[in-house]
Amino acid sequence: MWVYLNGQILKENEARISPLDRGFTFGDGVYEVIPCYDNQLFLFDEHLKRLKASLELTFIPLTDEIKNLDKILLELQKKNKFLNQSFYIQVTRGVDEVRAHAVEKKMHPTVFVTSQELQKNPYRIDPNQEGIKVRLEEDIRWHRCDIKTIALLGNTLPINDPNKPKVDEIIFHKDGIINEGSKSNVFIFHKGKVLTPSLDQNILPGITRGHIIKEMRNNDIDVHETEISIEQFLAAEEVWITSSTKEVQPVSKINEYTLPSKNLEDSIWYKVLKFI
Ligand code: PDD
Repeated sequence: MWVYLNGQILKENEARISPLDRGFTFGDGVYEVIPCYDNQLFLFDEHLKRLKASLELTFIPLTDEIKNLDKILLELQKKNKFLNQSFYIQVTRGVDEVRAHAVEKKMHPTVFVTSQELQKNPYRIDPNQEGIKVRLEEDIRWHRCDIKTIALLGNTLPINDPNKPKVDEIIFHKDGIINEGSKSNVFIFHKGKVLTPSLDQNILPGITRGHIIKEMRNNDIDVHETEISIEQFLAAEEVWITSSTKEVQPVSKINEYTLPSKNLEDSIWYKVLKFI
């Protein structure tokens, strides 16, 4: 795999990052994930805007390479050759001389970009197959989930608990209200309405979420950004998740509970999948 690191395109095994990089010592950085279909970047401007917002909110300076990110991605895309790729852009505050919480001197951010093959959404190949399995968990993350930070222990811990059954995604809730998945946003269809948690809650403003909300509204599908209780979530007719790598995927099992099956042609999630 070819990667980009601080101005150079390199083979992945030639890329070197200092162990004193604050990304390693503090998880002090942000990231972005951008899909590319048929060699075309998808919703690039929206992703770039969110990356700039994450940098601004964490006081990490915007470097020239971020301003030219599209050129870097297209160069990597040619080198790695996959027709569909997902780019991971990680920007840390940079390398410290000694480990210290406070930054004493002007730092230069580390910019690292990888691209990997983006697998075709299995629900495009066979939309009738069983949906994904999810587990509800108390949201133990910090209070700034609007920032796309590389410090993801709160997101990765529950899915790696060896004492719990294996699931495809964790759905976080706080005080009885659903927030989002550990790596996705969530939607339900309940009593004739599409509901999704509002951005006033502690969630990431997902680019896929924003795109499909806009498309649903353009196509006269009523969608409400509002609180969803655990009870509503469990009583929903449909539940689906959205993200830049999963697109739209239906849920069939929540903990031990199996959602009632529904005719594909009547399913809202399937209509929504076509907006991507
Ligand atoms: N995850 N919420 C969380 C916590 C996420 O990590 C993600 C994306 C989303 C969906 O956002 P978007 O539609 O912009 O991809 C919501 C990415 C794909 C990841 O970490 O790999």
